[in-house]
Amino acid sequence: MQRRPLLQALAGLAAGAALPAGARPASAEAFDAAAASQPLLTPLKGVSDATGDRDAQALLRGRWPAELRGRFHRNGPALFERAGERYHHWFDGDGMVQQYTLDGTHVRHRGRLVRTAKLAAEQRAGRFQMQTLGTWIEGAPPVTGPDSMNTANTNALEHGGRLLAMWEGGSAIAMDPTDLSTRGPVTWGAGLQQLPFSAHPKVGPDGHLWNIGTQGDKLIVWHIGPDGHLLRVQVGGLPFAGGMVHDMAITERHLVVPLPPVRLNFGRPVDGGPRRFALVPGEPLRVLVMEKADITKRRVFELPAEMVFHVGNAHDTTEGVALSWVGAPDAWFLDRGAVDLLAGRPTADPGAVHLRIGRFDLARGRVQVDAHAGEVEFPRVHPARVGQRARFLALGAAWPAHAARSKLPLLHGVQLFDTETGRVRRFDYGEQAIAEEHVIVPKPGTSGELDAWLLGTTFDARRQATVLNLLDAAHLEDGPVAQAVLPYALPLGFHGNFQAG
Ligand SMILES: [Fe+2]
Repeated sequence: MQRRPLLQALAGLAAGAALPAGARPASAEAFDAAAASQPLLTPLKGVSDATGDRDAQALLRGRWPAELRGRFHRNGPALFERAGERYHHWFDGDGMVQQYTLDGTHVRHRGRLVRTAKLAAEQRAGRFQMQTLGTWIEGAPPVTGPDSMNTANTNALEHGGRLLAMWEGGSAIAMDPTDLSTRGPVTWGAGLQQLPFSAHPKVGPDGHLWNIGTQGDKLIVWHIGPDGHLLRVQVGGLPFAGGMVHDMAITERHLVVPLPPVRLNFGRPVDGGPRRFALVPGEPLRVLVMEKADITKRRVFELPAEMVFHVGNAHDTTEGVALSWVGAPDAWFLDRGAVDLLAGRPTADPGAVHLRIGRFDLARGRVQVDAHAGEVEFPRVHPARVGQRARFLALGAAWPAHAARSKLPLLHGVQLFDTETGRVRRFDYGEQAIAEEHVIVPKPGTSGELDAWLLGTTFDARRQATVLNLLDAAHLEDGPVAQAVLPYALPLGFHGNFQAG
């Protein structure tokens, strides 16, 4: 979410202006009643302060390769309820980082709530205090800066010896990868406190990290060296201010940033529900292509209006850049889908969320887009191909395999998309599973895109447990070669990353 308009709007609301009547938290009891008959919704209940710390050895099935060693971190909104009140929006929950440690013999899980300033204050108060993206909190103090509402709930990445828990609009929160203790907000340099560091940085094969942050009509570009120290920060202008800028891609020379035309609708009356989101009529999807070395050297492309959360990958071409992304015809999931899920009353996604691949001609200002049918999300690429030409994308997917769960706008499978042939290979976890993001993990000593595993979690409703799955990328359709079953269900998460070692 854009900081400045959001902060200004929230500050105005806190002062009593344009109060959206009725947009109060929902009741925890209402969720329990609605979700009682749907075992797939268990992970949307969330954790409490008491259950937000989890530790267990997983029960192993299949053959875990001895050479697969490292830490897989995931993050997602996890704490939704205090004092009987429940957030309206899935994205509102306080972040909880999950760590799966693979030592060649065991899989150990550790989960911790990210100890943000917001979480600490609300733990002391015993109730929600701060405004959120989707829920009006009565009596909340004015928002003084991005980190006062930072939930650190979107992504987790080890880089430069730190584990970063990231949210879209504020500081990255550093955690200790050895025990998941929270160290606190990262300030990359003098005078850079609380500048937004978005949740989707990209790390190239050279270990350099690139990220953006947006604040009002300003765009911040971060360049962090492999050792975790700031190399450079650039500040530029945004061609569409006050929107939602969630993800970005890198190439060898460029940064590529989709700017969907979505805004918070603070002025719209709300009847007993959450805040609302919508695409701005008449505004296009913009894609901003900038040179890494000088972000003032840029070109803005305008495409048919579309909601974009996630990019797959990008690379330089002879004419400009190529970018893959997942586009939706409207902001339905942000506005309704994520709200209905958290209320325990899921509704079917009315739109088609598809993979797109666009070729952007920087000299002529033209773009050609191919749309690839299929309900997908969470695209990932082989880590050695980030910013390079890549043949395969791993994606979470849903398809009309299970009529009984057709109303649940969540994924049940994983697939590999071949960008050269358009061929899709996929595996279905089944009617009683929710599939989360899967990442591509290279087999040690290899470089081929399919000399790799796919590593990702599912919620198994039959077991009422979270399961870590390992699939062989070359034989994806055979399903997991190994699984690690936890003795509990974790909240659904968004994104994560594997760190070998
Ligand atoms: Fe995301």
